[in-house]
Amino acid sequence: MGAARNQDHTKRGKFIAFEGIDGSGKSTQIRLLREKMKAEGMGCYTTMEPTDSPIGSLIHQIMTGRVKTDNRAIAALFAADRLDHLLNDVNGIVHKIDEGVTVLTDRYYFSSYAYHSVDMPMDWVIKANEQSSLILKPTVNIFIDISPDVALARIAENRFERELYEEKSRLLQVREKYLEAFERLKDEECVLTVDGNRTEQEIADEIWEKITAYLK
Ligand code: ADP
Ligand code: TYD
Repeated sequence: MGAARNQDHTKRGKFIAFEGIDGSGKSTQIRLLREKMKAEGMGCYTTMEPTDSPIGSLIHQIMTGRVKTDNRAIAALFAADRLDHLLNDVNGIVHKIDEGVTVLTDRYYFSSYAYHSVDMPMDWVIKANEQSSLILKPTVNIFIDISPDVALARIAENRFERELYEEKSRLLQVREKYLEAFERLKDEECVLTVDGNRTEQEIADEIWEKITAYLK
């Protein structure tokens, strides 16, 4: 059923997932894409993970160090937050896609594959997210590839609080895990990589050029 959901219905909304290490420019590019789509007369709904649901709020408290728990428990919480993000009655993504709305999300399951497989086997993480991948695969994943040095410099310029994973060595590992996950799932996932070490507008232009075919 999962594959059919993603292929058959021309009137269903598209689902675009933005991926990248912390500070790679995902939220900036989502804003620019939303503005561009609006200018072209296309609506969209933007969202993010972790969400602002009760499960997402617990994750935020863990990420900022206010609550501590085991890495496996964190990974499982992200998987639960994702299922709620897809399926909840108030603003679940699946319902929006079924209504024909295009959804742009800041992070989806590749974030889990990359971040959590630094500490545990990627197989485990993929398995923990299997329901989400069966329910809804992105029309396309956009990976904003950036050097951790550039990303951290941008974060440092604009924010005081550091989160759990915002360290260079960690982000280097996460980037490697993203590449490993893309290679591993290349036959079942659509991934577009853009070079994030450039100006906002250069990146936005490349994303627009590459994505228009998928928005039709
Ligand atoms: P993410 O959502 O991936 O964490 P953001 O879009 O919040 O990344 O960007 C992180 C910081 O870098 C923000 O302060 C943002 O204004 C800045 N930024 C984003 N894209 C660029 C860019 N191409 N060049 C310079 N600074 C950028
Ligand atoms: P956030 O403040 O949203 O960071 P960013 O703006 O960089 O996206 O925090 C999200 C953090 O959670 C980020 O470090 C990545 C991590 N994360 C996971 O570890 N697993 C996941 O499944 C997701 C969605 C995010």
